[in-house]
Amino acid sequence: MIRQEISPSILNCDIGQLHAELDKIATADNVHVDVMDNHFVPNLSWGLPVVESVVKHGKLPVDVHLMIEDPDRWALDYAKAGVDSVTFHAEAATAPVVLARQLRAQGVKAGLGLRPATPIEPYIDLLKEFDMILIMTVEPGFGGQEFIEAMCEKIRRTRKAISRTYLDISLQVDGGISRNTIEMAAQAGANVFVAGSAVYKADNAANEIATLRKLAKQHCHGLV
Ligand code: DX5
Ligand code: ZN
Repeated sequence: MIRQEISPSILNCDIGQLHAELDKIATADNVHVDVMDNHFVPNLSWGLPVVESVVKHGKLPVDVHLMIEDPDRWALDYAKAGVDSVTFHAEAATAPVVLARQLRAQGVKAGLGLRPATPIEPYIDLLKEFDMILIMTVEPGFGGQEFIEAMCEKIRRTRKAISRTYLDISLQVDGGISRNTIEMAAQAGANVFVAGSAVYKADNAANEIATLRKLAKQHCHGLV
């Protein structure tokens, strides 16, 4: 049985009030932290000290999304910070299997991220090396963008391939997830839903998380 998870992204929270912003999402399943280097994506966010502060807050498992060049060099430092999972991008990693194994050896879940134009097919035979596949549903770099509906086909194909492994591999979607799009993503087979602006722009983040959870659940197709 696969669990559905709501994973708010703090990218557009008020970083000056970090711990108060994290308290707002205490009912979520984990917290998604976007690391951007202004090379892999045209935006700069934050790095290890902010991730360490989120870990220190201690109330939710931390899911790090590395949108950086050369994750082979940097990802392990994030794993050592006490996070739950580290996702790096297929387009940026030189040796994704080596890196995933190093992350797992560190006791951290390994995620593989795919930009919208990157197909899942080259990675189908490598699925067992990962704990999570992240299908970007916007071009990575910024919050508040529109969900790319065409990604639903890729989500479907990925879910089918994961099912064939009989392994507990999560399928995460990130970008433009809201009340209007989460059902589409859930129906296609995603089970981890990153939502940034939908949660942090809502009047009440906890209510929004509950609503997203409820909508996703209606389309769980054998997932729970
Ligand atoms: C975008 C980031 C996302 C972003 C999502 O590159 O990876 O995690 O924060 O924000 P929304 O939910 O607003 O699209
Ligand atoms: Zn992200």
